[in-house]
Amino acid sequence: MNKTILVTGGAGFIGSNFVLAWVKQGLGNVINLDKLTYAGNLDNLVSLGRDARHVFVHGDIGDRHLLDKLLAEHQPYAVVNFAAESHVDRSIHGPQDFIQTNVVGTFHLLEAVRGYWNGLDTEHKKTFRFLHVSTDEVYGSLAKDDPAFTETTQYAPNSPYSASKAASDHLVRAYHHTYGLPTLTTNCSNNYGPHHFPEKLIPLVIHNALNGKPLPIYGNGQQIRDWLYVEDHCAAIRRVLEAGKAGEVYNIGGWNEKPNIEVVRTLCRLLDRKKPRADGHSYAEQITFVEDRLGHDQRYAIDATKISRELGWKPVETFETGIEKTVDWFLQNQDWVNNVTSGEYRNWVQTHYTERGEEMA
Ligand code: NAD
Ligand code: DAU
Repeated sequence: MNKTILVTGGAGFIGSNFVLAWVKQGLGNVINLDKLTYAGNLDNLVSLGRDARHVFVHGDIGDRHLLDKLLAEHQPYAVVNFAAESHVDRSIHGPQDFIQTNVVGTFHLLEAVRGYWNGLDTEHKKTFRFLHVSTDEVYGSLAKDDPAFTETTQYAPNSPYSASKAASDHLVRAYHHTYGLPTLTTNCSNNYGPHHFPEKLIPLVIHNALNGKPLPIYGNGQQIRDWLYVEDHCAAIRRVLEAGKAGEVYNIGGWNEKPNIEVVRTLCRLLDRKKPRADGHSYAEQITFVEDRLGHDQRYAIDATKISRELGWKPVETFETGIEKTVDWFLQNQDWVNNVTSGEYRNWVQTHYTERGEEMA
């Protein structure tokens, strides 16, 4: 077996950051299978140019025939599964794609990988890894003083998105327990950074601020998320792949709990400094409280003690350094933003925010 990995969903936000770092650090070849949904974008990979260490394949993790062919042809020593429908609000509007990709797709991927893995010789069977990238949302919602989620916190998903991710985590667990497939599961908190699709809070707020549009805060803005810079998440995944114990789960988080309104005010302050409004007023004047998300989880918090103690991983960025890098990236990459906010994106913001009483298209 060679130094090749198969990555799924590698044209999306986290997947593309992972692929870029993997290739740039010379860690081996990447076969990148992505369906290129609205969230997948080949522009995210453009800095790789024609680097032969990266092979992009347009396709679906639910396509068993394609998976069998890719695995047989490239003989990867690991599969890292990022492919998913990932936006909670979209899952509330229409859960079907979430079930199809996150549950059925993961099942087909596991079946293909199991077939491939069964055909490996004893040594390669032992070193092979299937790493499933999951989320802290599977654990449900915390009250203000509850302890943070650990790897043994009971699953209690509350949205169609988190329920579909929970189902995929259970399948991964079962494939390890039943068939002995050497799986690893990571459950991470909210990421932010370059290539973040502007339907999610942080990039949406940056984009709307610069375009003179409302900055929509659901409910009272007091919901809490634990924010992690995307490159720290990718480093954690690499570390788990390298040294994680087969069958184990690792929580990944930034120790950075913030209420949404505080995140948005921080973004406004940074933008006021770096790209002041023409009228000299603060971007904070664009903040608008809108109708809450259905079933909105109040608080997520990750206890990342296990990955830190057992694998020695810790985030490099604080929220302050990471958010500044992120704002700088968005200011310097307005062409990227303009490309991804044309077309389908406009339909989404029009439908979703008009329902909340805001005109944003
Ligand atoms: P994203 O929506 O930006 O990207 C998902 C990618 O998967 C896209 O490139 C898309 O084209 C691709 N894809 C979708 N369906 C596919 C299919 N059937 N076959 C092949 N490719 C398909 O998502 P993201 O934010 O980069 O998240 C990546 C993974 O990390 C997801 O599994 C998500 O649940 C998990 N996660 C995300 C966060 C976060 O804050 N964004 C935090 C923790 C975990
Ligand atoms: O916790 C990990 C999860 O983080 C990932 O599994 C998901 O894929 C990812 O999308 C993210 O989910 P969230 O729902 O937490 O992220 P989002 O950016 O959509 O929202 C962050 C918070 O901001 C949440 O409390 C809802 C709120 N929000 C969001 C939007 C888009 C607003 O107040 N206004 C908005 O317009």
